[in-house]
Amino acid sequence: MKVLVIGGGGREHALAWKLAQSPKVQRVYVAPGNGGTALDPALRNVPLTDIGALADFAVAEKIVLTIVGPEAPLAAGVVDLFRAHGLRIFGPTRAAAQLESSKAFAKDFMQRHGIPTALYASFTDAAAAHDHVNRHGAPIVIKADGLAAGKGVVVAMTADEAHAAIDFMLDGKTGARVVIEDFMVGEEASFIVVSDGQRVLPLATSQDHKRIGDGDTGPNTGGMGAYSPAPVVTPNVHARAMHEIVLPTIAGMAADGQPFSGFLYAGLMIDAAGNPRVVEFNARLGDPEAQVLLMRLKSDLFDVLMAATATGDQPTLDSIELQWDRRIALGVVMAAHGYPGAVRNGDAIGGLPAPTEDAIVFHAGTERRADGTLVTSGGRVLCVTALGDSVKAAQQRAYAALAPIHFEGGQHRSDIGHRGLQPR
Ligand code: GLY
Repeated sequence: MKVLVIGGGGREHALAWKLAQSPKVQRVYVAPGNGGTALDPALRNVPLTDIGALADFAVAEKIVLTIVGPEAPLAAGVVDLFRAHGLRIFGPTRAAAQLESSKAFAKDFMQRHGIPTALYASFTDAAAAHDHVNRHGAPIVIKADGLAAGKGVVVAMTADEAHAAIDFMLDGKTGARVVIEDFMVGEEASFIVVSDGQRVLPLATSQDHKRIGDGDTGPNTGGMGAYSPAPVVTPNVHARAMHEIVLPTIAGMAADGQPFSGFLYAGLMIDAAGNPRVVEFNARLGDPEAQVLLMRLKSDLFDVLMAATATGDQPTLDSIELQWDRRIALGVVMAAHGYPGAVRNGDAIGGLPAPTEDAIVFHAGTERRADGTLVTSGGRVLCVTALGDSVKAAQQRAYAALAPIHFEGGQHRSDIGHRGLQPR
């Protein structure tokens, strides 16, 4: 059978790599893919991004299942379009993807359904937003309403930073909106589940590192590294996240007439007492969370996603019990010169180690040129992912695999997994 993965980042490389391991899958297309998916003989890149062209390709190639990686095609309605063509696709509809594409929609939804999250207010008027900050003070969180590749959130530690973020997000932009939230204290974790709109299958837990710098300093990024499982998600926190957040969200979306099928990613803040609250929802797998989760997943991902899109009397998610590698997976992102600001493309990449059973380099912003050279072509370039018996062992293995890799201006954090090393 043929499958199609939409997207071209590290998450999509990991999805395609994992799907290609299924004995039921003969071919994995990746659209548009990247330099890493181009190099892998098990995968085939397709230079398409337009959702109409993707649907035509899926019909022509008799694609059995399409998996959507990033948020932009979801927000553009790729799932609705594929379904209108009678094509099987895993991901939320445009309406359901608003849980990610509109922060105001998500906050409204959580308030109506009693899902724990920070108090908030939303503004289109900059003066009113500034006034709100003046009344509440800092720290305070400013979020752009709309997709921003993980960079539309400013955790302002001072009122000046908050005012600057409001000006940046609202200034002169027609229809722009900001959501301003109370600052939540605690430790973050990524809680991602597979849903068919009704049933829920939780994946293993993970933890991202959103700031560019060591010690969680500097501006936010799409994620500079991750590891799985996240120790902060104890069995008690897990049960509460399921019962207080994930199950009411899936039930609430169905009750509102917008059933959510796809990967639902709840970014959680867990306080010292173990109370989980939602920082944000994403309508997709996280990146780089996907790389560490898929490295640990032992079950056949194709079977899981076929069950999540089952029709008639086909086996549903109830029939699946996920198997995980008991080891820790840890991934370190190598980013391009300038990231998370304006990045430089075209730097030659060298020193990539061959994949082993316990260390793989997933590509993101890479391009394989016609002459066979590999160059940078995006902000996050690679995610070096390794398995180990402890966080320390996985960390050592990932950084050892990263050591020979070089490209001009490359940057990475040297402390991925640091919270997993702390005594609890
Ligand atoms: N790593 C955070 C995200 O995928 O949004």
